Amino acid sequence: MKNENIVWHDQHVTKEKREMLLKQKACVLWFTGLSGSGKSTIANAVENELFKRGCRTYLLDGDNVRHGLTKDLGFSQHDRIENIRRIGEVSKLFVDSGTIILTAFISPFIVDRLIARNLVAENEFIEIFVDTPLEICEQRDPKGLYKKARNGEIKDFTGIDSPYEKPKNAEICIKNNNSNLEENINVIIKYLIENGYINA
Ligand code: ADX
Repeated sequence: MKNENIVWHDQHVTKEKREMLLKQKACVLWFTGLSGSGKSTIANAVENELFKRGCRTYLLDGDNVRHGLTKDLGFSQHDRIENIRRIGEVSKLFVDSGTIILTAFISPFIVDRLIARNLVAENEFIEIFVDTPLEICEQRDPKGLYKKARNGEIKDFTGIDSPYEKPKNAEICIKNNNSNLEENINVIIKYLIENGYINA
């Protein structure tokens, strides 16, 4: 084992103390769904609303994080697993810092989302399935990637020649094919208030 001589060091300032200071309960808002489903748009809007309410937040977005922390990774099954493993670990650190962390990654595999979920306490992981049908994502095709995938210019594209495993028990499910953004934000904010993560 690489880390057999490393011992955990307890810290004085705990998550609970940070949460008291920030007047919020830390959690991960884990958005999952196809490319073009609206994850980033909704996560951005939710973060904006939380920020306006004085919450401490941070947003990790696949397309941005892949320019840095995960820029060595591609889209093979192996690389996607490693991508989500790193995001899970980073999310855990943010939760420990008392932050409400929002993540917007396709995260196509149930088992990897479960691993990320199990890194934090039971009520600290809120899975949000942005349930937009493939046909709609493909029609939208904001980055022209579906077209490239259909033409064989991109391989292993989620929904085309790489699988997406839908969540079975997501805490929140957003049917995003024709609902409006304001409604989607409200559903998530209401959940956070009703479950004691933030104040009304
Ligand atoms: S994940 O599967 O590992 O969770 P992630 O969310 O980080 O994916 O990145 C997805 C984004 O990368 C997509 O929104 C899209 O813009 C871009 N992308 C590039 N190639 C692919 C591909 N083969 N499959 C899916 N998305 C891709």
